[in-house]
Amino acid sequence: MAITTVVFDAYGTLFDVSAAARKAAGEPGRNALADTWEALSRDWRLKQLQYSWLRAVTGAHTDFWQVTQDGLDWALEAHGLYGDPDLRERLLSLYWELDAYPEVPQMLATLKARELDTAILSNGSPDMLDAAVDSAGIGPMLDAVLSVEEVGVFKPDARVYDMVGARFGSQPGNVLFVSANGWDAAAAGAYGFSTVWVNRGGEPVDRLPDPPAQMMTDLTRIPEFA
Ligand code: LAC
Repeated sequence: MAITTVVFDAYGTLFDVSAAARKAAGEPGRNALADTWEALSRDWRLKQLQYSWLRAVTGAHTDFWQVTQDGLDWALEAHGLYGDPDLRERLLSLYWELDAYPEVPQMLATLKARELDTAILSNGSPDMLDAAVDSAGIGPMLDAVLSVEEVGVFKPDARVYDMVGARFGSQPGNVLFVSANGWDAAAAGAYGFSTVWVNRGGEPVDRLPDPPAQMMTDLTRIPEFA
């Protein structure tokens, strides 16, 4: 089936989620963070995702900004950095202006030059996504920024993947879904999308049904698969 629509996960896929802790760690007076920012950033991300899955399974939905803050609070406490409101505030504010990975603008421009539909499909709340898209300057190359807030449940609930067909009128087989999260790519594959897992860190493949059809280390070659 021909690909008509290329859909991207946002955090970790288009936007570098480790940029917040990395930038804050480089600022003056942040010595404690400079020693632990990589582990803190990893734990922050892991807890943010765990809380999203648990809230999806238990039906206790809240928005992604809340689980982002909750995950950060857990990680700050785990690394002995809890109780520093200035640091917490700085890390959270940097999350609104994460760097896009360097290859993103050119890759999206190539897809648009080929008249493919492009979209973000993300757990992020609409205001978080708008801020990240604006700060990366990629809005003109996206036909839609789809937030799970429209359906009120996080990935990998199938109602989230349904949003793509609802927006573009596409069949699952017409959609190439790109995510840096192995679990997201697996769920999207089970749903019927073609999938690419962007595995920048050389991680093992998740032990889940429907492993990704393609694996890449960055986004440069995405247009070859669309
Ligand atoms: C997102 C998270 C899962 O953007 O990365 O949906």
